[in-house]
Amino acid sequence: MWNKNRITKLLEIEYPILQGPFGGGISTVELTTTVSNLGGLGGFGAYTLSPQEIYNTHKEIQSKTNKPYNLNLWVNDHDIIDEEHTKEQYRQAVETFKPYFDLLQTDIPALPPSFQSRFQNQLDVVFDIKPKVFSFMFGLLNESIIEDLHRQGTIVLGNATTLDEASALEKTGVDAIVASGFESGGHRPSFLDKAELSTTGTFALIQLIRDRVKIPVIAAGGIANGRGIAGAFKLGAEAVQIGTAFLATEESGALPVHKEFLFSDSAKSTTLTRAYTGRLGRGITTKITRDLLAATDKTLPFPLQTHFMGALRKAALEQQKNDLVFFWSGQIAPLLKHKKASTLMQSLIEEASELLS
Ligand SMILES: Cc1cc2nc3c(=O)[nH]c(=O)nc-3n(C[C@H](O)[C@H](O)[C@H](O)COP(=O)(O)O)c2cc1C
Repeated sequence: MWNKNRITKLLEIEYPILQGPFGGGISTVELTTTVSNLGGLGGFGAYTLSPQEIYNTHKEIQSKTNKPYNLNLWVNDHDIIDEEHTKEQYRQAVETFKPYFDLLQTDIPALPPSFQSRFQNQLDVVFDIKPKVFSFMFGLLNESIIEDLHRQGTIVLGNATTLDEASALEKTGVDAIVASGFESGGHRPSFLDKAELSTTGTFALIQLIRDRVKIPVIAAGGIANGRGIAGAFKLGAEAVQIGTAFLATEESGALPVHKEFLFSDSAKSTTLTRAYTGRLGRGITTKITRDLLAATDKTLPFPLQTHFMGALRKAALEQQKNDLVFFWSGQIAPLLKHKKASTLMQSLIEEASELLS
């Protein structure tokens, strides 16, 4: 039985299918609970939320499902080195991006105020609400924190983009590794080496980690149907985490125009760039991606670049100049079929059951 293994037992779920958490306000209670109620593990990305908002979201999720779900945070949420350096980076970013602000006749934002990491306060609320599953990206958690999470009954998942990251995560005591392949949509969660140097594909990454690491591997990146699930399982994964295919469903919080792009011809090409947020991430190759984002290294550190580009993104969306927006997407988008999370889940289960039985 493909759906009875260490992961289904550990997470107390019926099917080893995880809906990838989405940070930046794109996760919704509806999507998370739809997937959990159908026997998978819904995910909720909460790194931009305040502790109170995380608490409220948890309560809302609990009112709609009594099944487990996965609460996700970023353990490392800023890359700023020092003020002088940042000022120089700001000057360069203004010079690089000015033509696009001019094109949209919108003001260049001032250098945002200094950024305080939110993670510690967010973690406090994780100890308050005690979710069944907690996952994190962009680094490691102290062993003692993981022990405390275990003591309160929370299962802990960490994201790896390389074999070394997976080994480091295993040493700290996480329960399973999300192996995030190069194909994935959104940010690369690399933390030991530069993200640009941590670009192993899902196919290789699953096998490398499976070979060296004892805890279960959850395959993420480039999976959108039963064939993808079956392939990942044959290579040694015990679960899959699917992002882009769920991002495109009605229940996700992505903008309608973003979903249109995911189902359009444009999704045939995606690019990894640092210039949209300050951290390397994959999205659809729109005009601005081709002209500028793929080439420039004149960006502010994360999250200042996100703030800086936010003004451009807002103006471009308002003026329907969608070619000047970068829409997150994984490489698998041209295979997407389903517009409802429930039908996507049902077809994933049916197809995987047929191929793996
Ligand atoms: C828009 C977007 C936002 C994401 N945000 C997060 C996040 O905050 N935390 C996280 O662990 N993974 C995040 N991911 C990764 C997904 O959870 C998932 O691992 C990935 O999308 C799987 O690859 P796929 O897109 O090819 O299915 C994000 C992905 C996308 C597309």
